[in-house]
Amino acid sequence: GRAMDLVSASATPQALGLLLLFFLVALHLAASSSGAEKLRSKLPSPPFKLPVIGHLHLVGSLPHVSLRDLARKHGPDVMLLRLGAVPTLVVSSPRAAKAVLRTHDHLFASRPHSAVGDILSNGSTNVALAPYGDYWRRTKKLVTTHLLAARKVRSNRAAREQEVRLVLARLRAAAADTARTAVDVSELFIYFANDVVCQAVLGRLPREAGRNQMFRELLEIHCKLLGGFNLPDYFPILARLDMVTAKAVKLKRRWDDVLDDLIDKHASKMANDDEEEDFIDVLLSVQQEYSLTRDNIKAILVDMFEAGTDTTYIALDYAMAELMRKPQAMAKLQAEVRGCATKGKEMVTEDDLGSMSYLKAAMREAMRLHPSGPLMIPHLSVADCGVEGHTIPSGTRVIINVWAIGRDAASWKDAEEFVPERFMEEAMDATCDLQGNDFRFLPFGSGRRMCPGISFAAVTFEIILANLVYHFNWELPEGSSSVDMTEEFGFDVHRKERLLLVPRVPHHL
Ligand code: HEM
Repeated sequence: GRAMDLVSASATPQALGLLLLFFLVALHLAASSSGAEKLRSKLPSPPFKLPVIGHLHLVGSLPHVSLRDLARKHGPDVMLLRLGAVPTLVVSSPRAAKAVLRTHDHLFASRPHSAVGDILSNGSTNVALAPYGDYWRRTKKLVTTHLLAARKVRSNRAAREQEVRLVLARLRAAAADTARTAVDVSELFIYFANDVVCQAVLGRLPREAGRNQMFRELLEIHCKLLGGFNLPDYFPILARLDMVTAKAVKLKRRWDDVLDDLIDKHASKMANDDEEEDFIDVLLSVQQEYSLTRDNIKAILVDMFEAGTDTTYIALDYAMAELMRKPQAMAKLQAEVRGCATKGKEMVTEDDLGSMSYLKAAMREAMRLHPSGPLMIPHLSVADCGVEGHTIPSGTRVIINVWAIGRDAASWKDAEEFVPERFMEEAMDATCDLQGNDFRFLPFGSGRRMCPGISFAAVTFEIILANLVYHFNWELPEGSSSVDMTEEFGFDVHRKERLLLVPRVPHHL
């Protein structure tokens, strides 16, 4: 049953049947492999391995949880799993994470090949899936310099604040409703995160009704396809036959239609002097300098949506859910925000955020308990390398369980509790930042492959949350007594149920 669950996202009866056929091939490959295989056989590994699927049946529907439980028993620092045909190293301790992401960062900075990812990103020519090398280096520099660096993020401030205003207007209308109708706060965050990225990427074009929603729809399919544990990724030989691959080709065509149209519109009318350039303008203007094809540009654009929207919405959704579960923390945050914000202004602005230390602590604490990418994006080793006394051979897929690391009782007091105050302590505040300097806390990763979107994500998070708690008091809907924290695993991990809350305008406003 569990094995079926796991592959259900992509399995078809034909594909499962074919698995058996390829059994002999797999055996042959395993037997004929080389020194790498000998090294792998020395790594700690759970005993319950099955033919063909290896350890896949142990992964379960919440992989970050089952991998943590397996690691506790079979390899607290590193553990080797055979996921189908792919040997995968699971890293579960701060020490081992430091070895992989800092000490030997250059040897672990590549990405494994993904058949679905390859289709959706034009041969992995986005940033997130590009193999380690010159192309990745150039494109990462490009997105950092021209979209995500702190200075660039500041220059987008007016557009972001405008998005906040739109949300506040909607919430004021809901709060005025005497029926006390609940607002779907999860959906509000999804659209806000999506709109903020749309503004930065294509904001120069007139806002077209339905366009941002269409991005949202494409992204949802995208994340489902890329997400979880896809059959073709673990049985590469099946990739051409798999349903997921066919769906990816179809989705890719839809992306092409949308993006070609947007690029053409930008190319036919360059920004004039009094218009702020958006990211598509920038990509077109540096296309020669960075030797990018149109396909490369499209892959990079999709990457920004994919990496930038769900991650941010999930962080916000969990933060709000945790605050609803801990009224004292919510009260403390509201007191801080209401005390710091400049009186008399229609909204909290980005100038006000600097002094809101509890807000920043609450963000870190929400991300410690609920990193949007609990297993990050898999890394790939490019040479044999020693980690915690083991030799990891070249070509090994590496998963880092940052969710498990963030909740480890050996590193964290009351590890499962939402306690923002822990990040207010001086020592913690100084070292345990979002930049991956403390290997107990890696919501954005660390090292060469670290998330380039930290500044973008942090200010997007802070400006909307500050305004939500400044302008409204929040209540659970009539008849509901708690927030359901059940998780669902996909491309990322999010709360399964929508967060429904009633906004109330407090007396002081
Ligand atoms: C709360 C929000 C976010 C979280 C928690 C987050 C987290 C992460 C993580 C864990 C990684 C993988 C690191 C690794 O593999 O070592 C990553 C990579 C990446 N993120 Fe983010 N991210 C967020 C927001 C954003 C935003 C807003 C953008 C851009 C608009 C972005 C763009 C990227 C890109 C391009 C990569 C790939 C980097 C590479 O492979 O070199 N992220 N992010």
